[in-house]
Amino acid sequence: MTRRNSLFAATMLAGTAAAFSLMSTGAAQAQGALVMYCAVQEEWCRAMTSAFERETGIKVSMTRKSSGEIYAQVKAEAQNPRADIWWGGTGDPHMQAAEEGLTMEYKSPNMGELQDWAVRQWEQSKNRTVGIYSGALGFGYNTELVKANGIKEPKCWADLLNEDLKDEVQVADPNSSGTAYTLLATIVQLMGEEKGFEYLKSLHKNVNQYTKSGAAPAKATALGETTVGIVFMHDMVTMVVDNAPVKVVAPCEGTGYEIGSMSIIKGAKNLENAKKFYDWALTPAAQKLGAEAKSYQVPSNKNTPVPPQAPKLDEIKLINFDFAKYGSSEERRRLLSKWDNEVKNLPK
Ligand code: F6P
Repeated sequence: MTRRNSLFAATMLAGTAAAFSLMSTGAAQAQGALVMYCAVQEEWCRAMTSAFERETGIKVSMTRKSSGEIYAQVKAEAQNPRADIWWGGTGDPHMQAAEEGLTMEYKSPNMGELQDWAVRQWEQSKNRTVGIYSGALGFGYNTELVKANGIKEPKCWADLLNEDLKDEVQVADPNSSGTAYTLLATIVQLMGEEKGFEYLKSLHKNVNQYTKSGAAPAKATALGETTVGIVFMHDMVTMVVDNAPVKVVAPCEGTGYEIGSMSIIKGAKNLENAKKFYDWALTPAAQKLGAEAKSYQVPSNKNTPVPPQAPKLDEIKLINFDFAKYGSSEERRRLLSKWDNEVKNLPK
């Protein structure tokens, strides 16, 4: 090819690409779009995105972050909201956002099919957030490391304070992570605030890292980077399913749980599509995608099969978690700043 010919070919190619991109933007606009903030595992976020796109032709732009991070972003964008739907993550920041008027009231025609705990979440938030799944908090340990280092198998929250676990426990930071905030709220409810904070300060001595994402310690435990990971039990189950040498524990004293939630952002630019997604996300067909993506929470629609791998909530000693109190703006802010001041920066 001569230089002139190749220049010509390059110009033609660029022109065709531009035409294609114009066509595809046109198509996306014709079908509409949806901007989604997603707080579960990446695989599940992607599965939801592609299934919804396939089903409706609506183009989804998805960003995955942890629960507390999404809350902070939605709040920062309140004057000019970028997202339409906030799907997944623990319920507490959804409740806080509801109270602060960052999300919208909506009643889906599918409400009648939901478990009572999912509907209660909706009622307590004055119709602004709904339960989409549930799961218990716990921890897991690497069986090979426990054996090799002669560590007593931890069974209770109290065991995580043992000296032989110094720098061997990993958990997320409750400011970014709903999992870690659930731990904070659970310990306070289980032990009372004073004793609870004493516990968290002692635990701090054994913590090797406060991660950003709640499920990260599950992977680190599976890889042998930490002996113990405090996570939602279903996130540790995913590691077991992948044949990692880990054991999942429901702490003997009892434990808290989450109601994973979904909210429509106030001022959503694609409101009708957000409602479409909301209704669809409550159907068994959509909820089944969780287990297919190796996420083993208990789904909120009564007709969605509960994955056999999901930890059985009725066999776990669950505390009577006060979602309204610990999701309230004042309490959540107070506890997080107390944890920052009294625990996070403590010398070891
Ligand atoms: O991995 C899924 C999950 O554990 C959900 O069950 C939960 O709502 C979410 O992650 C919490 O993530 P994070 O702690 O990062 O906010």
